[in-house]
This record gives sequence, C-alpha cells and structure tokens, in this order.
Amino acid sequence: MWRSLFWSFCGLIVLFGSTWTATSTYYTAGVVEFRLRVSGASSAQLLDEHLEAYLALIRSPEANETDIIVFPEGTLNSVLQLTAVPAPGSFNNSLCNGAQIDEQVAPFLRQLACAAQETSTYLVINVKEREACETGDPCSSNGYNVFNTNVVFDRNGTVISRYRKWNLYLEPMTNQTAAPELATFQTDFGVTFGHIICFDMLFYTPAQDLIEKLDVRDVIVTKMFNSELPFLTASQLQQGWAWGNNVNLLAAGASYPQAGISGSGIYAGQQGALVRRMVGDSDEGVRELLVARVPFWPTPAEAVDVPRPLPAQRRLLLLQQPRLEDFNTQLLEPHNGSSSYRLCQQDLCCEFQLNTTIVANNIESSYHYRLGVFVGQRTYEEARYSVVRLCGLFACHNASLESCGQLHDEVEGEAPSTYLQFSELSIRGEFVQRERRLLMPSTLSSSLYALQASEMDWQLEECKDSAKTLVEMRLLQLQSELLTFGIYGNYFDERSAAKSQNLSVAMLLLSGLMLWSSCSWLGLGF
Ligand SMILES: *[C@@H]1O[C@H](CO)[C@@H](O)[C@H](O)[C@H]1NC(C)=O
Ligand SMILES: *[C@@H]1O[C@H](CO)[C@@H](O)[C@H](O)[C@H]1NC(C)=O
Ligand SMILES: *[C@@H]1O[C@H](CO)[C@@H](O)[C@H](O)[C@H]1NC(C)=O
Ligand SMILES: *[C@@H]1O[C@H](CO)[C@@H](O)[C@H](O)[C@H]1NC(C)=O
Ligand SMILES: *[C@@H]1O[C@H](CO)[C@@H](O)[C@H](O)[C@H]1NC(C)=O
Ligand SMILES: *[C@@H]1O[C@H](CO)[C@@H](O)[C@H](O)[C@H]1NC(C)=O
Ligand SMILES: *[C@@H]1O[C@H](CO)[C@@H](O)[C@H](O)[C@H]1NC(C)=O
Ligand SMILES: *[C@@H]1O[C@H](CO)[C@@H](O)[C@H](O)[C@H]1NC(C)=O
Repeated sequence: MWRSLFWSFCGLIVLFGSTWTATSTYYTAGVVEFRLRVSGASSAQLLDEHLEAYLALIRSPEANETDIIVFPEGTLNSVLQLTAVPAPGSFNNSLCNGAQIDEQVAPFLRQLACAAQETSTYLVINVKEREACETGDPCSSNGYNVFNTNVVFDRNGTVISRYRKWNLYLEPMTNQTAAPELATFQTDFGVTFGHIICFDMLFYTPAQDLIEKLDVRDVIVTKMFNSELPFLTASQLQQGWAWGNNVNLLAAGASYPQAGISGSGIYAGQQGALVRRMVGDSDEGVRELLVARVPFWPTPAEAVDVPRPLPAQRRLLLLQQPRLEDFNTQLLEPHNGSSSYRLCQQDLCCEFQLNTTIVANNIESSYHYRLGVFVGQRTYEEARYSVVRLCGLFACHNASLESCGQLHDEVEGEAPSTYLQFSELSIRGEFVQRERRLLMPSTLSSSLYALQASEMDWQLEECKDSAKTLVEMRLLQLQSELLTFGIYGNYFDERSAAKSQNLSVAMLLLSGLMLWSSCSWLGLGF
C-alpha cells in the first residue's frame, strides 16, 4: 500500500521520483449523504436496513480507493437500539474479531468494525451510545447515560477515537458530557483529524478549540442539519466554515429534504469544494458516497473547481433567518450601471460597490435584492444563541423584507429566475476583533451551492489602530444567479464570554501580532 511506503520510505520516494510524488500530495476521502428511513418498519428492521446500506456503500466500487469514509449523524441506530462504545485505548484490538469484547457493544457496531478491517479503511460512524454509569459520574436515575457519539475505526476495526456531542440541538433523550471533549486521531497517512457533530459548527467549543488550540487542519463533521436562508444552508455553511478557518473539512449529512435536511461535501479550505451534494430537486433523499482526493494541508496554490449542478433546488424545505426585521437593509433598485451604498448598524459598517444589468423580462416573477447589515444576538430554535455580525446582499421573493430568504416556486422547465446580473460586486466591512470569532464568506447561487475560489476573492486585514478586522470580498466573474453574497461573522458566545474573560489582554496580544498590517488598502472613509 502506497501510504505505508510513503511514510516509512519517505527518502526513497524522493529518489524514485515523479510517480510517488504525484500520489503523495493527497489522501482519498469519502463522505456519505445518507437517506434515513423513519417509518414503515420496526426499529430493529430500520436499523438492519441502514446497516445493510452502510455496508454496501463501504464495499462499493466507488469506495475502493478511499482511506477514510465518514457517515452522517443519526442515520444508523435509534435510542431503542443503543450500543456501548469502548473508550479509545481501553481495548486495543479490532471490535470485529476476538473474545473479551464488552457485550454491551452491539452486533451492528462490530459488523462495521469488520467492514473497516475487510476494506482496510478508516470509518467514522455516528451512533446513539449507551454508557452504564460508573460510580462518581453524573448519572441518570435508570443507571445509564445516552450520548450522541462519533466512533472512529482504524483500518483494523479498532476504536481509535470517540467523541460525544457537546452542543446538543433539541435532543431531549440525549445527555451532555460533564465537560466538552476534544477528539482527535492520527492516521497512517500522516493526517491528524479532529471530529465534531453538526450543531458544534456554530459554536466555539469544541470546534474552534480543535483548530486554534490543537492546530488541527483536517476536520470531520457528521451532520443532520436544517438549512436556513439566506446565510446558513448546509453546504454553504460547510464551505464558508472551511474557508474561514482555512482547513480541510469532511462533512457527511443526513438526507431528508422533506424536513429541510441535506448537505454533504469535502472542502479544501480556501480552494473551495472538491465535491458536494445538496438534495433539493426531489422529495426523496439519496444514499450516495462522494469521493475526493484531499490535498495535504497546506493545500496547493492552484484553485480546484467543480461544476455547480442544476436544476435549481426548490423542494428542500428551508428555514428563514429569524431576525431579518432587525437588519438595517436597503432595497436595491433595479437599474443598469454602477452604484454604491454604505450601511451601518452598531459597531459595523459595510460598503457595497455594484454594477448591475437588468436581464429578466418579467420582473414580477424574479428575485429582488436587498443589502443588509446586522449586529446582534440570534437564537437557534430558542435553545442556544450566537452573537452575529454580518453584512451582505441577499435575494428576496419580492420587494418586502419578510420575503427575503424565500425561494420562488418551481416553474416547470424554466431556468431560475433572477432579475439582475452582477458584473461587479464588492463588499468591504470593518469587523471588531474578538478572541472568539470566526469570519467567513457566505455565498449562494440559485443551485444552493456556494461560490468557488475562481468566482470570488476574500481578503482579511487586521488593523491595530481601530482594533478591527477589515474584510473585503469581491466577485471575480459575472453572476446572474446569486442568492447570497456576504461576510458572516460568528462571535459565538460573546456576551457571556465577555464576563469571564480578560478581553483587553487578548486584544493587546492580537494587535501586537498584527503590527505588519496597514489597512491602507481600504482608505474609503471608514
Ligand atoms: C477502483 O475502481 C475503479 C473503477 O471503479 C478502477 O478503475 C480502479 O482501478 C480501482 N482501483 C483499485 C485500487 O482497485
Ligand atoms: C492501549 O494502548 C495504549 C497506547 O499504546 C496504552 O496506553 C493502553 O494501556 C493500552 N490499553 C490496553 C487495555 O492494553
Ligand atoms: C440524561 O438525560 C435523561 C433524559 O433526558 C435525563 O432524565 C437525565 O437526568 C440525564 N442525566 C444526566 C446525568 O444529566
Ligand atoms: C492491524 O492488524 C495487523 C494484523 O493483525 C497488525 O500487524 C497491525 O499492527 C495492526 N495495526 C494497527 C494499527 O493496530
Ligand atoms: C438594461 O440593459 C439590458 C441589456 O443590455 C437592456 O436589455 C435593458 O433594456 C436595459 N434596461 C434599462 C432600463 O436601461
Ligand atoms: C458596468 O458593467 C458593464 C458590463 O460589464 C460595462 O459595460 C460597464 O462599463 C460597467 N459600468 C461601469 C460604470 O463600470
Ligand atoms: C411578497 O411575497 C410574500 C411571500 O413570500 C407574500 O406573502 C406577500 O404578499 C408579497 N408581497 C407583495 C407586496 O407582493
Ligand atoms: C486583565 O489582565 C491584566 C494583566 O494580567 C491585569 O492587570 C488586569 O487587572 C486584568 N483586568 C481585569 C478586568 O481582570
């Protein structure tokens, strides 16, 4: 196998030249977009059906060269078929064969260990886990806790990592660990992965801890994500998150478009998506393995590109950003030619530079656009919140603000109806610095995929004078199917964190590191 050759005979590779160096720049990953069956059978039958489909995907011809395959959140067992998951290091043998395996480890998990061994592939599986309480742990009255857990098998079927979800999202049957876990694992191809689950992507701990404190450059996320327009549809968030952090991201998503759930992909930081899938043109989800060669970080300079599939995705049930009425917005009057705007709210000002052409014949059935800026707290289903600073352009069903983030009804056989073509679009924003913050591009075309590296430019510059970060994003190509084009700043739990942390010290450190910056490129009246 070339991987072990590469790592044990590194010197030889250089001597023997090009064929080896050609293969040594990437690893091959698969992520699975997986349709779960939710009814019409007993829970045992549902589990059997899911397991059989998992095994078929692992053994499929498309999987034959993968080093690692990631399955999504919540698409295997239910709380009625819990399994134990051995702590990594507590049992250093394959779960496939061998005696002395904890009998609480369910047969389905052992079968997956066998599949890892049989195909010699790392597997990341998300399960509902049952842990019998040991004395001293916080414990439920029934004697066990239930976790939403990622389990990682190595090529031998040995459990090498386990992560229990920290940021639970409306999961009443599930327990939180006493403290957040930072889960990482090393591979024989030299990559160290960190892994998280779905909602974790919207919070600092543990996702940003993995990146900022442990220096993880390849992140795995298992997901069952409800998409929300205009800024947080699944693949859009995955791509923006990977871009903003400049990490490789392997995201596997559950596929249930009737409930607004779909979205998987493999993203190479600021190179954009290598492969991705959003189901929206059908009421049925899919069971599909997406495979890509992931460049070892830091990624090569040349931009990768994948075509954006059509048709437009209209059947995916989509949530709408809850605080649109609190945005400071400006309706874009349709016109031919250039225009510029400056919008502010609280501590954020953004400048927009545009050149548009009216292309639609029928403006009434086309999208309208607004420019907007927002600083404030947003909730996720009243359960959790983030402080968000963002500005951008977004599409609206009509001229009213409430209609922003709603798609037009599908018209049989017609192309997506936009009404403006953008030959120029740039946004410049001044975002306050904070220790806990993620700035990322949030873009969307009518197909519900984000713009690629060839289509947009993204620049950040720290400014020591104002303790702000200057962000500029710009279209590089003519666009006539835009839904969203914005800068999204997640300031996480800013308000609660501010109480417990010495932010002024953090700020000094930050500006100390950023002395090289001049901000001069902005010079437009900020
Ligand atoms: C994997 O399968 C593809 C066709 O699906 C084939 O071209 C390729 O040679 C196979 N690779 C290996 C290592 O078997
Ligand atoms: C498993 O391996 C780890 C690392 O080598 C070691 O620390 C641990 O004690 C081992 N566990 C058992 C049960 O042998
Ligand atoms: C775990 O969750 C169950 C169900 O919600 C709850 O009854 C129990 O108290 C929780 N256990 C702990 C230790 O929080
Ligand atoms: C995997 O199993 C093989 C054969 O049993 C063994 O030689 C090898 O050391 C194992 N690898 C790991 C990472 O445990
Ligand atoms: C804008 O430009 C388009 C394309 O050149 C043209 O068809 C249209 O008539 C123009 N509209 C106005 C209001 O100038
Ligand atoms: C706006 O874009 C059009 C089409 O690319 C171009 O012909 C025109 O010169 C631009 N106008 C300005 C003011 O830049
Ligand atoms: C705008 O669209 C919404 C639906 O998205 C509809 O309820 C509303 O009546 C429309 N308003 C106008 C002025 O057409
Ligand atoms: C912040 O830290 C500095 C240096 O450690 C200290 O002098 C200062 O009193 C701290 N401020 C607060 C509000 O804790």
